[in-house]
Amino acid sequence: MRTVFIIATLAILALVVLEFFIAPHSPLVPPRSNEAGRPAIGGDFVLTTQDGKTLRSEDLRGQYRLIYFGFTHCPDVCPDDLARMTQTLNLLGPAARQLTPLFITIDPARDTQEQLKSYLSAFHPAITGLTGAPEEIKRVITDYKIYAVKDEDPTASDYVMNHSAFTYLMSPEGQYLKHFAHGYDPAEAAVTIRQEMKSPAPAQ
Ligand code: NI
Repeated sequence: MRTVFIIATLAILALVVLEFFIAPHSPLVPPRSNEAGRPAIGGDFVLTTQDGKTLRSEDLRGQYRLIYFGFTHCPDVCPDDLARMTQTLNLLGPAARQLTPLFITIDPARDTQEQLKSYLSAFHPAITGLTGAPEEIKRVITDYKIYAVKDEDPTASDYVMNHSAFTYLMSPEGQYLKHFAHGYDPAEAAVTIRQEMKSPAPAQ
């Protein structure tokens, strides 16, 4: 019994140590917390929408935000997560009016305003696509603790971006609240978002 206890303790310690060393480098592990216990994620930005309008983060004051970072040439991960975002918004119904869904490109070289517009037409019409100057996009990626690296395959004529696939729920003040991992259940996400908004689902 005692041996089991010691082994269990050692295993937990090993996991804690491993997490400490691996977490900051792995794109699959959620971002680490700051002293307040919440991940230090987020920041101000000035980007361009798929309609060519300037969107400043201050413009979203008072609105919850659902934010996803990706690129339009993504073969499967981004379309899947954007389909889930679409379903989540549909499930939220009128409550979705308190929320601004954003798709921020990590590939501004190819994701022009026009490219975003055409790509996003396949998803929920409320989703605002954002692009910008490479240095501005780089800053936003850093602020939101997103892993985004170009996969340089010399044998391929085109390139893909390896990236983390979190969908962030941010508060009306732009603070991190929750994140949904790739492949999340839209029904569960809608429940979580309603809880954060204190907006109960309408009675059936
Ligand atoms: Ni993707």
